[in-house]
Amino acid sequence: MLKLNKPMTNIYKPLIRKYTSASLTKQIPVLSNQVSLTIPTLKPHYKFHISSQICCYSAVPNRIKYTADAYPQVQRNNQFKKLSSDDLEYFKSILTKQEILYFGPDSDTKDLDPFNEDWMRKYKGQSHLVLKPKTVEKISLILNYCNEEKLAVVPQGGNTDLVGASVPVFDEIILSLNNLNKIRHFDPVSGILKCDAGVILENADNYLREQDHIFPLDLGAKGSCHVGGVCATNAGGLRLLRYGSLHGSVLGLEVVMPNGDIVDSMHSLRKDNTGYDLKQLFIGAEGTIGIITGVSILTQPKPKAINVSFLAVKDFESVQKVFVKAKNELAEILSAFEFMDKRAIQLTKKHIEKDTPFPLEEEYPFYVLIETSGSSKIHDDEKLETFLESAMESEVVVDGTIAQDNTELQNLWKWREMIPESSQCQGGVYKYDVSLPLKDLYSLVEVVNEKLTEANLLGDAPKPVIAAVGYGHIGDGNLHLNVATRLYSKEVEKVLEPFVYEYVSSKHGSISAEHGLGFQKKNYISYTKSEPEIKMMRDLKKHYDPNGIMNPYKFI
Ligand code: FAD
Ligand code: MLT
Ligand code: ZN
Repeated sequence: MLKLNKPMTNIYKPLIRKYTSASLTKQIPVLSNQVSLTIPTLKPHYKFHISSQICCYSAVPNRIKYTADAYPQVQRNNQFKKLSSDDLEYFKSILTKQEILYFGPDSDTKDLDPFNEDWMRKYKGQSHLVLKPKTVEKISLILNYCNEEKLAVVPQGGNTDLVGASVPVFDEIILSLNNLNKIRHFDPVSGILKCDAGVILENADNYLREQDHIFPLDLGAKGSCHVGGVCATNAGGLRLLRYGSLHGSVLGLEVVMPNGDIVDSMHSLRKDNTGYDLKQLFIGAEGTIGIITGVSILTQPKPKAINVSFLAVKDFESVQKVFVKAKNELAEILSAFEFMDKRAIQLTKKHIEKDTPFPLEEEYPFYVLIETSGSSKIHDDEKLETFLESAMESEVVVDGTIAQDNTELQNLWKWREMIPESSQCQGGVYKYDVSLPLKDLYSLVEVVNEKLTEANLLGDAPKPVIAAVGYGHIGDGNLHLNVATRLYSKEVEKVLEPFVYEYVSSKHGSISAEHGLGFQKKNYISYTKSEPEIKMMRDLKKHYDPNGIMNPYKFI
Protein backbone atom coordinates (compact mmCIF):
# COMPACT_ATOMS: atom_id res chain seq x y z
CA MET A 1 0.00 0.00 0.00
CA LEU A 2 1.22 3.46 -0.79
CA LYS A 3 0.61 5.63 2.23
CA LEU A 4 1.07 9.31 1.77
CA ASN A 5 2.98 10.64 4.75
CA LYS A 6 1.29 13.99 5.03
CA PRO A 7 -2.19 15.09 4.07
CA MET A 8 -2.65 15.96 0.45
CA THR A 9 -3.01 19.63 -0.40
CA ASN A 10 -6.32 20.92 -1.62
CA ILE A 11 -5.26 21.12 -5.23
CA TYR A 12 -3.58 17.79 -5.06
CA LYS A 13 -6.39 15.98 -3.31
CA PRO A 14 -9.24 16.09 -5.81
CA LEU A 15 -7.06 15.30 -8.78
CA ILE A 16 -4.55 12.67 -7.78
CA ARG A 17 -6.64 9.66 -6.93
CA LYS A 18 -5.48 6.52 -5.31
CA TYR A 19 -6.07 3.65 -7.62
CA THR A 20 -8.34 1.53 -5.47
CA SER A 21 -11.26 0.29 -7.53
CA ALA A 22 -12.00 -3.25 -6.39
CA SER A 23 -13.27 -4.14 -9.82
CA LEU A 24 -9.78 -3.69 -11.18
CA THR A 25 -8.78 -7.04 -9.84
CA LYS A 26 -11.49 -8.78 -11.83
CA GLN A 27 -9.99 -11.31 -14.20
CA ILE A 28 -11.48 -13.21 -17.09
CA PRO A 29 -10.71 -16.84 -17.68
CA VAL A 30 -8.42 -17.41 -20.63
CA LEU A 31 -10.73 -19.95 -22.11
CA SER A 32 -14.15 -18.38 -22.10
CA ASN A 33 -16.65 -20.05 -24.44
CA GLN A 34 -16.17 -17.39 -27.00
CA VAL A 35 -12.42 -17.71 -26.94
CA SER A 36 -12.34 -21.46 -27.12
CA LEU A 37 -14.14 -21.34 -30.46
CA THR A 38 -11.21 -19.62 -32.07
CA ILE A 39 -8.39 -21.05 -30.02
CA PRO A 40 -6.74 -22.94 -32.90
CA THR A 41 -5.77 -19.60 -34.41
CA LEU A 42 -4.00 -18.48 -31.25
CA LYS A 43 -0.28 -19.07 -31.48
CA PRO A 44 1.55 -19.65 -28.21
CA HIS A 45 3.88 -16.78 -28.98
CA TYR A 46 0.99 -14.34 -29.14
CA LYS A 47 0.63 -14.48 -25.38
CA PHE A 48 2.55 -12.17 -23.17
CA HIS A 49 3.05 -11.92 -19.46
CA ILE A 50 0.99 -8.84 -18.86
CA SER A 51 -1.69 -9.82 -21.31
CA SER A 52 -1.86 -13.49 -20.60
CA GLN A 53 -5.40 -13.19 -19.22
CA ILE A 54 -6.59 -11.31 -22.24
CA CYS A 55 -6.29 -13.07 -25.57
CA CYS A 56 -5.83 -10.73 -28.48
CA TYR A 57 -6.65 -11.85 -31.96
CA SER A 58 -9.35 -11.19 -34.44
CA ALA A 59 -12.23 -13.65 -34.45
CA VAL A 60 -11.43 -14.39 -38.08
CA PRO A 61 -7.80 -13.46 -38.52
CA ASN A 62 -6.70 -12.19 -41.90
CA ARG A 63 -4.67 -14.77 -43.75
CA ILE A 64 -1.06 -13.65 -43.85
CA LYS A 65 0.35 -13.19 -47.31
CA TYR A 66 3.69 -14.78 -48.04
CA THR A 67 6.37 -12.10 -47.84
CA ALA A 68 7.52 -13.22 -51.27
CA ASP A 69 4.06 -12.36 -52.68
CA ALA A 70 3.58 -9.13 -50.76
CA TYR A 71 7.04 -7.86 -51.78
CA PRO A 72 7.66 -9.42 -55.23
CA GLN A 73 10.59 -7.08 -55.88
CA VAL A 74 12.60 -9.24 -53.43
CA GLN A 75 13.80 -12.34 -55.26
CA ARG A 76 15.15 -15.59 -53.90
CA ASN A 77 18.94 -15.76 -54.17
CA ASN A 78 19.58 -18.79 -56.31
CA GLN A 79 23.09 -19.14 -54.90
CA PHE A 80 21.34 -20.77 -51.98
CA LYS A 81 20.71 -24.46 -52.31
CA LYS A 82 17.20 -25.87 -51.97
CA LEU A 83 16.83 -28.38 -49.18
CA SER A 84 17.44 -31.93 -50.42
CA SER A 85 16.80 -35.38 -48.95
CA ASP A 86 20.56 -35.70 -48.36
CA ASP A 87 20.50 -32.58 -46.25
CA LEU A 88 17.64 -33.98 -44.21
CA GLU A 89 19.50 -37.23 -43.74
CA TYR A 90 22.46 -35.28 -42.42
CA PHE A 91 20.34 -33.36 -39.92
CA LYS A 92 18.70 -36.61 -38.83
CA SER A 93 22.14 -38.09 -38.24
CA ILE A 94 23.12 -35.40 -35.72
CA LEU A 95 19.76 -34.51 -34.15
CA THR A 96 17.05 -36.43 -32.36
CA LYS A 97 13.44 -36.58 -33.62
CA GLN A 98 12.42 -33.94 -31.07
CA GLU A 99 14.98 -31.56 -32.51
CA ILE A 100 13.59 -31.63 -36.06
CA LEU A 101 10.28 -30.30 -37.38
CA TYR A 102 9.99 -31.11 -41.06
CA PHE A 103 7.10 -30.99 -43.51
CA GLY A 104 7.83 -32.19 -47.04
CA PRO A 105 7.29 -30.03 -50.13
CA ASP A 106 3.79 -31.42 -50.69
CA SER A 107 2.62 -31.46 -47.10
CA ASP A 108 0.72 -28.77 -45.24
CA THR A 109 3.20 -26.67 -43.25
CA LYS A 110 0.50 -25.23 -40.98
CA ASP A 111 2.25 -26.62 -37.93
CA LEU A 112 5.24 -24.49 -38.86
CA ASP A 113 3.15 -21.27 -38.98
CA PRO A 114 4.28 -20.17 -35.51
CA PHE A 115 7.83 -20.23 -36.87
CA ASN A 116 7.11 -18.86 -40.37
CA GLU A 117 4.78 -16.04 -39.32
CA ASP A 118 5.78 -12.95 -37.39
CA TRP A 119 4.03 -11.37 -34.39
CA MET A 120 2.53 -8.54 -36.44
CA ARG A 121 1.03 -11.05 -38.90
CA LYS A 122 2.70 -9.03 -41.62
CA TYR A 123 5.43 -11.36 -42.84
CA LYS A 124 5.33 -15.04 -43.66
CA GLY A 125 8.14 -17.32 -44.83
CA GLN A 126 7.88 -20.65 -46.55
CA SER A 127 10.30 -22.79 -44.60
CA HIS A 128 9.67 -26.50 -44.39
CA LEU A 129 12.33 -27.18 -41.78
CA VAL A 130 12.81 -26.03 -38.21
CA LEU A 131 15.84 -27.30 -36.30
CA LYS A 132 15.75 -27.07 -32.51
CA PRO A 133 19.17 -28.28 -31.34
CA LYS A 134 19.71 -28.96 -27.65
CA THR A 135 23.45 -28.26 -27.52
CA VAL A 136 25.93 -25.67 -28.71
CA GLU A 137 27.95 -28.40 -30.41
CA LYS A 138 24.95 -29.39 -32.52
CA ILE A 139 24.46 -25.75 -33.55
CA SER A 140 28.09 -25.70 -34.60
CA LEU A 141 27.65 -28.83 -36.73
CA ILE A 142 24.48 -27.43 -38.33
CA LEU A 143 26.05 -24.11 -39.27
CA ASN A 144 29.21 -25.73 -40.55
CA TYR A 145 27.11 -27.98 -42.79
CA CYS A 146 24.80 -25.17 -43.98
CA ASN A 147 27.81 -23.00 -44.78
CA GLU A 148 29.46 -25.77 -46.82
CA GLU A 149 26.20 -26.57 -48.60
CA LYS A 150 25.07 -22.94 -48.97
CA LEU A 151 21.82 -23.48 -47.15
CA ALA A 152 20.39 -20.23 -45.79
CA VAL A 153 19.52 -20.06 -42.07
CA VAL A 154 17.30 -17.80 -39.95
CA PRO A 155 18.16 -17.81 -36.24
CA GLN A 156 14.98 -17.58 -34.18
CA GLY A 157 14.41 -16.88 -30.50
CA GLY A 158 10.90 -16.16 -29.19
CA ASN A 159 9.79 -14.76 -32.59
CA THR A 160 8.52 -11.52 -31.08
CA ASP A 161 10.56 -9.33 -33.40
CA LEU A 162 8.74 -6.34 -34.90
CA VAL A 163 10.61 -5.71 -38.17
CA GLY A 164 10.29 -9.04 -39.95
CA ALA A 165 13.81 -10.16 -38.95
CA SER A 166 12.99 -13.41 -37.17
CA VAL A 167 11.10 -15.25 -39.92
CA PRO A 168 12.27 -16.53 -43.30
CA VAL A 169 11.47 -14.67 -46.48
CA PHE A 170 11.64 -17.76 -48.71
CA ASP A 171 12.66 -21.32 -47.78
CA GLU A 172 15.46 -20.60 -45.29
CA ILE A 173 15.97 -23.19 -42.55
CA ILE A 174 14.77 -21.91 -39.19
CA LEU A 175 17.24 -22.53 -36.39
CA SER A 176 15.25 -22.17 -33.20
CA LEU A 177 17.00 -21.65 -29.86
CA ASN A 178 13.97 -22.97 -27.95
CA ASN A 179 15.75 -26.07 -26.69
CA LEU A 180 18.90 -24.31 -25.48
CA ASN A 181 17.38 -23.02 -22.30
CA LYS A 182 19.42 -23.63 -19.17
CA ILE A 183 20.60 -21.18 -16.55
CA ARG A 184 24.34 -21.86 -16.34
CA HIS A 185 25.52 -19.90 -13.31
CA PHE A 186 24.64 -17.02 -11.04
CA ASP A 187 27.06 -15.22 -8.77
CA PRO A 188 25.12 -13.43 -6.00
CA VAL A 189 28.12 -11.29 -5.06
CA SER A 190 28.78 -9.72 -8.45
CA GLY A 191 25.19 -10.20 -9.70
CA ILE A 192 26.46 -11.79 -12.92
CA LEU A 193 24.18 -14.29 -14.63
CA LYS A 194 25.35 -16.74 -17.26
CA CYS A 195 22.69 -18.55 -19.24
CA ASP A 196 21.87 -20.23 -22.52
CA ALA A 197 20.55 -17.92 -25.23
CA GLY A 198 17.18 -19.70 -25.40
CA VAL A 199 16.14 -18.96 -21.82
CA ILE A 200 12.85 -17.03 -21.90
CA LEU A 201 13.38 -13.55 -20.49
CA GLU A 202 10.63 -13.95 -17.90
CA ASN A 203 12.12 -17.25 -16.71
CA ALA A 204 15.52 -15.60 -16.31
CA ASP A 205 13.91 -12.76 -14.39
CA ASN A 206 11.90 -15.11 -12.13
CA TYR A 207 15.04 -17.10 -11.39
CA LEU A 208 16.89 -13.89 -10.52
CA ARG A 209 14.07 -12.64 -8.32
CA GLU A 210 14.50 -15.73 -6.18
CA GLN A 211 18.09 -14.58 -5.71
CA ASP A 212 16.99 -11.00 -4.88
CA HIS A 213 18.05 -9.70 -8.28
CA ILE A 214 16.30 -8.68 -11.52
CA PHE A 215 17.15 -8.85 -15.21
CA PRO A 216 18.26 -5.35 -16.28
CA LEU A 217 15.71 -5.29 -19.12
CA ASP A 218 11.94 -5.60 -19.14
CA LEU A 219 9.52 -5.51 -22.03
CA GLY A 220 6.00 -6.50 -22.98
CA ALA A 221 7.15 -9.62 -24.81
CA LYS A 222 8.95 -10.90 -21.72
CA GLY A 223 6.87 -14.09 -21.56
CA SER A 224 8.04 -15.22 -25.00
CA CYS A 225 11.29 -13.51 -26.04
CA HIS A 226 14.66 -15.10 -25.31
CA VAL A 227 17.69 -13.69 -23.54
CA GLY A 228 19.66 -14.37 -26.75
CA GLY A 229 16.92 -12.75 -28.85
CA VAL A 230 16.94 -9.53 -26.87
CA CYS A 231 20.72 -9.38 -27.24
CA ALA A 232 20.49 -10.04 -30.99
CA THR A 233 18.06 -7.11 -31.31
CA ASN A 234 19.66 -4.98 -28.60
CA ALA A 235 16.17 -4.50 -27.18
CA GLY A 236 15.66 -1.35 -25.13
CA GLY A 237 12.46 -1.88 -23.17
CA LEU A 238 10.86 -0.10 -20.31
CA ARG A 239 13.76 0.54 -17.95
CA LEU A 240 16.66 1.51 -20.19
CA LEU A 241 16.43 4.93 -18.56
CA ARG A 242 17.53 3.31 -15.30
CA TYR A 243 19.68 0.30 -16.22
CA GLY A 244 21.15 1.36 -19.55
CA SER A 245 21.47 -0.53 -22.82
CA LEU A 246 22.48 -4.15 -23.31
CA HIS A 247 25.66 -2.82 -24.93
CA GLY A 248 26.60 -1.90 -21.36
CA SER A 249 25.13 -4.68 -19.24
CA VAL A 250 26.11 -7.68 -21.38
CA LEU A 251 29.58 -8.71 -20.26
CA GLY A 252 30.18 -11.60 -22.60
CA LEU A 253 28.67 -13.86 -25.22
CA GLU A 254 29.19 -17.31 -26.61
CA VAL A 255 28.62 -17.34 -30.35
CA VAL A 256 28.63 -19.93 -33.12
CA MET A 257 30.01 -18.46 -36.33
CA PRO A 258 28.71 -19.39 -39.80
CA ASN A 259 31.66 -21.77 -40.35
CA GLY A 260 30.80 -23.59 -37.13
CA ASP A 261 33.52 -22.05 -34.97
CA ILE A 262 32.43 -21.64 -31.37
CA VAL A 263 33.71 -18.35 -29.96
CA ASP A 264 33.63 -18.52 -26.19
CA SER A 265 33.67 -14.96 -24.94
CA MET A 266 31.55 -15.53 -21.82
CA HIS A 267 33.53 -13.06 -19.74
CA SER A 268 32.41 -11.81 -16.40
CA LEU A 269 34.52 -8.71 -16.09
CA ARG A 270 33.06 -5.24 -15.80
CA LYS A 271 36.32 -3.78 -17.02
CA ASP A 272 38.34 -5.32 -19.84
CA ASN A 273 40.27 -3.17 -22.28
CA THR A 274 42.20 -5.82 -24.11
CA GLY A 275 41.53 -4.96 -27.73
CA TYR A 276 38.25 -4.89 -29.64
CA ASP A 277 35.06 -5.45 -27.68
CA LEU A 278 33.95 -8.35 -29.89
CA LYS A 279 30.61 -9.07 -28.23
CA GLN A 280 29.31 -5.70 -29.44
CA LEU A 281 29.39 -7.02 -33.01
CA PHE A 282 26.60 -9.46 -32.19
CA ILE A 283 24.47 -7.22 -29.97
CA GLY A 284 21.88 -5.75 -32.33
CA ALA A 285 23.21 -7.70 -35.37
CA GLU A 286 19.81 -9.42 -35.79
CA GLY A 287 21.38 -12.82 -36.40
CA THR A 288 23.25 -11.72 -39.52
CA ILE A 289 26.76 -12.71 -38.39
CA GLY A 290 26.55 -15.55 -35.89
CA ILE A 291 24.25 -17.37 -33.49
CA ILE A 292 24.38 -16.28 -29.88
CA THR A 293 24.30 -19.42 -27.72
CA GLY A 294 25.28 -18.06 -24.31
CA VAL A 295 24.97 -14.74 -22.49
CA SER A 296 26.85 -13.35 -19.51
CA ILE A 297 25.07 -10.33 -18.10
CA LEU A 298 25.28 -7.99 -15.13
CA THR A 299 21.96 -8.09 -13.30
CA GLN A 300 20.61 -5.62 -10.73
CA PRO A 301 19.48 -5.91 -7.10
CA LYS A 302 15.72 -6.36 -6.77
CA PRO A 303 14.16 -3.04 -5.72
CA LYS A 304 12.45 -3.19 -2.32
CA ALA A 305 9.94 -0.46 -3.07
CA ILE A 306 8.14 0.18 -6.34
CA ASN A 307 5.60 2.92 -7.04
CA VAL A 308 3.70 3.58 -10.23
CA SER A 309 1.71 6.69 -11.02
CA PHE A 310 -0.36 7.37 -14.11
CA LEU A 311 -0.72 11.07 -14.85
CA ALA A 312 -2.58 13.21 -17.34
CA VAL A 313 -1.17 16.33 -18.99
CA LYS A 314 -2.61 18.82 -21.43
CA ASP A 315 0.02 18.84 -24.19
CA PHE A 316 3.33 17.35 -25.30
CA GLU A 317 5.25 20.29 -23.90
CA SER A 318 3.92 19.34 -20.48
CA VAL A 319 5.12 15.75 -21.02
CA GLN A 320 8.63 17.17 -21.42
CA LYS A 321 8.23 19.43 -18.40
CA VAL A 322 7.14 16.54 -16.20
CA PHE A 323 10.09 14.51 -17.48
CA VAL A 324 12.62 17.21 -16.56
CA LYS A 325 10.96 17.60 -13.16
CA ALA A 326 10.98 13.84 -12.57
CA LYS A 327 14.67 13.58 -13.47
CA ASN A 328 15.52 16.36 -11.06
CA GLU A 329 13.21 15.52 -8.20
CA LEU A 330 12.83 11.74 -8.33
CA ALA A 331 16.42 11.43 -9.49
CA GLU A 332 17.96 8.09 -8.47
CA ILE A 333 14.62 6.35 -7.84
CA LEU A 334 13.15 7.11 -11.27
CA SER A 335 13.03 3.77 -13.14
CA ALA A 336 10.61 4.37 -16.02
CA PHE A 337 9.07 7.35 -17.73
CA GLU A 338 6.66 6.39 -20.49
CA PHE A 339 4.20 8.51 -22.43
CA MET A 340 1.15 7.77 -24.55
CA ASP A 341 -1.27 9.93 -26.47
CA LYS A 342 -5.05 10.04 -26.29
CA ARG A 343 -5.47 7.97 -29.46
CA ALA A 344 -3.24 5.21 -28.08
CA ILE A 345 -5.38 5.03 -24.96
CA GLN A 346 -8.63 5.12 -26.96
CA LEU A 347 -7.43 2.17 -29.00
CA THR A 348 -6.37 0.30 -25.88
CA LYS A 349 -9.70 1.04 -24.22
CA LYS A 350 -11.51 -0.83 -26.98
CA HIS A 351 -9.33 -3.79 -26.27
CA ILE A 352 -8.97 -4.01 -22.49
CA GLU A 353 -11.37 -1.63 -20.75
CA LYS A 354 -13.98 -4.30 -20.21
CA ASP A 355 -11.62 -6.11 -17.86
CA THR A 356 -9.31 -3.33 -16.77
CA PRO A 357 -11.22 -0.11 -16.10
CA PHE A 358 -9.37 3.00 -17.17
CA PRO A 359 -7.88 4.59 -14.04
CA LEU A 360 -8.93 8.20 -14.77
CA GLU A 361 -12.45 9.55 -15.07
CA GLU A 362 -11.80 11.77 -18.06
CA GLU A 363 -9.75 11.66 -21.21
CA TYR A 364 -6.76 13.93 -21.72
CA PRO A 365 -4.45 14.70 -24.68
CA PHE A 366 -1.42 12.93 -23.14
CA TYR A 367 -0.57 10.58 -20.30
CA VAL A 368 2.65 9.66 -18.57
CA LEU A 369 3.44 6.60 -16.53
CA ILE A 370 6.13 7.14 -13.94
CA GLU A 371 7.70 4.28 -12.05
CA THR A 372 10.04 4.65 -9.12
CA SER A 373 12.12 1.81 -7.66
CA GLY A 374 14.26 2.08 -4.60
CA SER A 375 15.34 0.48 -1.40
CA SER A 376 13.18 2.36 1.11
CA LYS A 377 9.41 2.62 0.84
CA ILE A 378 9.12 5.55 3.24
CA HIS A 379 11.79 7.51 1.43
CA ASP A 380 10.35 6.80 -2.03
CA ASP A 381 6.76 7.54 -1.04
CA GLU A 382 7.78 10.86 0.41
CA LYS A 383 9.78 11.80 -2.65
CA LEU A 384 6.99 10.84 -5.04
CA GLU A 385 4.41 12.64 -2.95
CA THR A 386 6.41 15.87 -2.91
CA PHE A 387 7.01 15.57 -6.64
CA LEU A 388 3.33 15.00 -7.44
CA GLU A 389 2.15 17.71 -5.14
CA SER A 390 4.30 20.32 -6.78
CA ALA A 391 3.51 19.02 -10.28
CA MET A 392 -0.18 19.44 -9.54
CA GLU A 393 0.26 22.82 -7.90
CA SER A 394 2.12 24.15 -10.91
CA GLU A 395 -0.60 22.60 -13.10
CA VAL A 396 1.87 20.72 -15.25
CA VAL A 397 -0.05 17.60 -14.27
CA VAL A 398 -3.84 17.92 -14.47
CA ASP A 399 -5.01 14.56 -13.18
CA GLY A 400 -3.52 11.31 -11.99
CA THR A 401 -3.53 8.24 -9.86
CA ILE A 402 -1.10 6.15 -7.84
CA ALA A 403 -1.16 2.37 -7.55
CA GLN A 404 -1.98 1.16 -4.04
CA ASP A 405 -0.85 -2.42 -4.37
CA ASN A 406 0.79 -4.80 -6.77
CA THR A 407 -2.42 -5.62 -8.67
CA GLU A 408 -3.09 -1.96 -9.26
CA LEU A 409 0.49 -1.42 -10.23
CA GLN A 410 0.24 -4.17 -12.84
CA ASN A 411 -3.04 -2.72 -14.06
CA LEU A 412 -1.55 0.73 -14.55
CA TRP A 413 1.33 -0.81 -16.49
CA LYS A 414 -1.24 -2.63 -18.63
CA TRP A 415 -2.44 0.71 -20.01
CA ARG A 416 1.02 1.19 -21.40
CA GLU A 417 2.08 -2.36 -22.21
CA MET A 418 -1.11 -3.30 -24.05
CA ILE A 419 -0.79 -0.55 -26.65
CA PRO A 420 1.22 -2.72 -29.10
CA GLU A 421 -1.30 -5.55 -28.96
CA SER A 422 -4.27 -3.16 -29.14
CA SER A 423 -2.77 -1.55 -32.25
CA GLN A 424 -2.15 -4.87 -33.93
CA CYS A 425 -5.21 -6.93 -33.23
CA GLN A 426 -7.75 -5.35 -35.57
CA GLY A 427 -6.04 -6.43 -38.76
CA GLY A 428 -2.50 -5.11 -38.92
CA VAL A 429 -0.14 -2.40 -37.81
CA TYR A 430 2.58 -0.36 -39.48
CA LYS A 431 5.17 0.21 -36.78
CA TYR A 432 7.90 2.81 -36.56
CA ASP A 433 10.24 2.99 -33.59
CA VAL A 434 12.34 6.08 -33.96
CA SER A 435 14.77 8.21 -32.00
CA LEU A 436 14.14 11.93 -32.25
CA PRO A 437 15.22 14.99 -30.30
CA LEU A 438 12.61 15.35 -27.56
CA LYS A 439 11.31 18.67 -28.83
CA ASP A 440 10.47 17.07 -32.21
CA LEU A 441 9.41 13.68 -30.90
CA TYR A 442 5.64 14.00 -31.18
CA SER A 443 5.57 16.07 -34.37
CA LEU A 444 5.95 12.87 -36.40
CA VAL A 445 2.62 11.55 -35.10
CA GLU A 446 0.89 14.81 -35.97
CA VAL A 447 2.28 15.00 -39.46
CA VAL A 448 1.47 11.35 -40.19
CA ASN A 449 -2.12 11.85 -39.04
CA GLU A 450 -2.37 14.84 -41.38
CA LYS A 451 -0.98 12.87 -44.30
CA LEU A 452 -3.31 9.91 -43.76
CA THR A 453 -6.32 12.23 -43.44
CA GLU A 454 -5.35 14.11 -46.61
CA ALA A 455 -5.06 10.79 -48.42
CA ASN A 456 -8.56 9.88 -47.16
CA LEU A 457 -7.25 6.67 -45.63
CA LEU A 458 -8.04 7.33 -41.95
CA GLY A 459 -11.44 6.88 -40.32
CA ASP A 460 -14.34 4.47 -39.99
CA ALA A 461 -14.52 1.32 -42.10
CA PRO A 462 -14.07 0.80 -45.01
CA LYS A 463 -11.13 3.22 -44.71
CA PRO A 464 -8.06 1.10 -44.02
CA VAL A 465 -6.51 3.08 -41.13
CA ILE A 466 -8.15 2.97 -37.70
CA ALA A 467 -5.72 5.31 -35.95
CA ALA A 468 -2.13 6.55 -35.95
CA VAL A 469 -1.03 6.63 -32.34
CA GLY A 470 2.08 7.75 -30.49
CA TYR A 471 3.66 6.45 -27.29
CA GLY A 472 7.08 5.49 -26.10
CA HIS A 473 10.06 5.79 -23.88
CA ILE A 474 10.45 9.51 -23.24
CA GLY A 475 13.48 8.88 -21.09
CA ASP A 476 15.29 7.42 -24.12
CA GLY A 477 14.03 9.90 -26.75
CA ASN A 478 12.23 6.95 -28.38
CA LEU A 479 8.86 7.41 -30.06
CA HIS A 480 6.68 4.52 -31.18
CA LEU A 481 4.36 5.44 -34.01
CA ASN A 482 1.78 2.72 -34.63
CA VAL A 483 -0.55 2.99 -37.58
CA ALA A 484 -3.32 0.55 -36.72
CA THR A 485 -5.07 -0.76 -39.81
CA ARG A 486 -7.95 -3.01 -40.73
CA LEU A 487 -5.68 -4.74 -43.21
CA TYR A 488 -2.19 -4.39 -44.65
CA SER A 489 -2.49 -2.14 -47.67
CA LYS A 490 0.06 -0.94 -50.20
CA GLU A 491 -1.81 2.35 -50.43
CA VAL A 492 -1.21 3.02 -46.74
CA GLU A 493 2.36 1.76 -46.89
CA LYS A 494 3.14 4.16 -49.75
CA VAL A 495 1.92 7.15 -47.74
CA LEU A 496 4.08 6.11 -44.78
CA GLU A 497 7.28 4.97 -46.45
CA PRO A 498 9.74 6.45 -47.15
CA PHE A 499 8.03 9.57 -45.73
CA VAL A 500 8.53 8.56 -42.07
CA TYR A 501 12.21 7.77 -42.65
CA GLU A 502 12.78 11.04 -44.55
CA TYR A 503 11.12 12.98 -41.77
CA VAL A 504 13.23 11.31 -39.06
CA SER A 505 16.40 11.84 -41.05
CA SER A 506 15.57 15.53 -41.55
CA LYS A 507 15.44 15.88 -37.75
CA HIS A 508 18.73 13.97 -37.33
CA GLY A 509 17.02 11.05 -35.62
CA SER A 510 17.40 7.31 -36.05
CA ILE A 511 14.94 5.18 -38.05
CA SER A 512 15.32 2.47 -35.45
CA ALA A 513 15.62 3.25 -31.77
CA GLU A 514 15.17 -0.32 -30.59
CA HIS A 515 13.41 -2.79 -32.90
CA GLY A 516 16.16 -2.94 -35.51
CA LEU A 517 16.00 -2.92 -39.31
CA GLY A 518 15.14 -6.51 -40.27
CA PHE A 519 13.20 -6.93 -43.51
CA GLN A 520 10.97 -3.90 -43.06
CA LYS A 521 13.74 -1.31 -43.11
CA LYS A 522 16.25 -3.16 -45.26
CA ASN A 523 16.25 -0.41 -47.92
CA TYR A 524 16.33 2.48 -45.51
CA ILE A 525 19.51 2.12 -43.44
CA SER A 526 21.08 5.05 -45.33
CA TYR A 527 18.57 7.41 -43.73
CA THR A 528 20.52 6.98 -40.50
CA LYS A 529 23.95 5.55 -41.37
CA SER A 530 26.55 7.06 -43.71
CA GLU A 531 28.04 5.27 -46.75
CA PRO A 532 31.38 4.58 -44.99
CA GLU A 533 29.50 3.12 -42.02
CA ILE A 534 27.38 0.90 -44.26
CA LYS A 535 30.49 -0.22 -46.17
CA MET A 536 32.21 -1.21 -42.93
CA MET A 537 29.14 -3.24 -41.95
CA ARG A 538 29.11 -4.98 -45.33
CA ASP A 539 32.85 -5.74 -45.03
CA LEU A 540 32.33 -7.32 -41.64
CA LYS A 541 29.38 -9.35 -42.92
CA LYS A 542 31.39 -10.57 -45.93
CA HIS A 543 34.36 -11.47 -43.78
CA TYR A 544 32.48 -13.58 -41.25
CA ASP A 545 29.69 -14.83 -43.47
CA PRO A 546 31.22 -15.03 -46.97
CA ASN A 547 28.37 -17.18 -48.30
CA GLY A 548 25.75 -14.85 -46.83
CA ILE A 549 23.83 -17.75 -45.26
CA MET A 550 22.97 -15.94 -42.03
CA ASN A 551 19.51 -14.36 -42.08
CA PRO A 552 19.56 -13.26 -45.73
CA TYR A 553 17.24 -10.64 -47.35
CA LYS A 554 17.35 -8.61 -44.16
CA PHE A 555 19.12 -5.29 -43.60
CA ILE A 556 22.51 -6.42 -44.84
P1 FAD B 1 13.24 -13.10 -32.28
O1 FAD B 1 12.06 -12.28 -32.54
O2 FAD B 1 13.11 -14.55 -32.44
O3 FAD B 1 14.45 -12.62 -33.21
C1 FAD B 1 14.81 -11.28 -33.32
C2 FAD B 1 16.07 -11.15 -34.18
O4 FAD B 1 17.17 -11.70 -33.51
C3 FAD B 1 16.01 -11.90 -35.50
O5 FAD B 1 16.79 -11.22 -36.42
C4 FAD B 1 16.64 -13.23 -35.19
O6 FAD B 1 17.23 -13.81 -36.34
C5 FAD B 1 17.69 -12.84 -34.18
N1 FAD B 1 17.97 -13.83 -33.15
C6 FAD B 1 17.12 -14.34 -32.23
N2 FAD B 1 17.79 -15.15 -31.39
C7 FAD B 1 19.08 -15.15 -31.80
C8 FAD B 1 20.25 -15.77 -31.33
N3 FAD B 1 20.24 -16.57 -30.27
N4 FAD B 1 21.41 -15.55 -31.99
C9 FAD B 1 21.45 -14.71 -33.07
N5 FAD B 1 20.36 -14.10 -33.54
C10 FAD B 1 19.20 -14.30 -32.91
N6 FAD B 1 11.67 -4.35 -28.24
C11 FAD B 1 12.29 -3.38 -27.55
O7 FAD B 1 13.43 -3.05 -27.85
N7 FAD B 1 11.65 -2.76 -26.51
C12 FAD B 1 10.41 -3.09 -26.11
O8 FAD B 1 9.86 -2.50 -25.19
C13 FAD B 1 9.74 -4.14 -26.83
N8 FAD B 1 8.51 -4.51 -26.46
C14 FAD B 1 7.87 -5.46 -27.20
C15 FAD B 1 6.57 -5.79 -26.84
C16 FAD B 1 5.87 -6.73 -27.59
C17 FAD B 1 4.46 -7.06 -27.21
C18 FAD B 1 6.49 -7.35 -28.69
C19 FAD B 1 5.77 -8.38 -29.50
C20 FAD B 1 7.80 -7.05 -29.04
C21 FAD B 1 8.50 -6.09 -28.31
N9 FAD B 1 9.79 -5.71 -28.65
C22 FAD B 1 10.42 -4.74 -27.93
C23 FAD B 1 10.48 -6.26 -29.83
C24 FAD B 1 11.73 -6.96 -29.43
O9 FAD B 1 12.74 -6.85 -30.41
C25 FAD B 1 11.58 -8.39 -29.08
O10 FAD B 1 10.54 -8.60 -28.20
C26 FAD B 1 12.84 -9.11 -28.59
O11 FAD B 1 13.99 -8.33 -28.51
C27 FAD B 1 13.10 -10.20 -29.56
O12 FAD B 1 13.49 -11.35 -28.89
P2 FAD B 1 13.11 -12.78 -29.46
O13 FAD B 1 13.75 -13.80 -28.62
O14 FAD B 1 11.65 -12.89 -29.64
O15 FAD B 1 13.84 -12.75 -30.88
C1 MLT C 1 7.03 -0.98 -26.64
O1 MLT C 1 7.68 -0.05 -26.20
O2 MLT C 1 5.86 -1.21 -26.26
C2 MLT C 1 7.68 -1.89 -27.60
O3 MLT C 1 8.82 -1.39 -28.17
C3 MLT C 1 6.80 -2.62 -28.53
C4 MLT C 1 6.02 -1.81 -29.48
O4 MLT C 1 6.17 -0.63 -29.60
O5 MLT C 1 5.22 -2.42 -30.17
ZN1 ZN D 1 9.58 0.24 -27.05
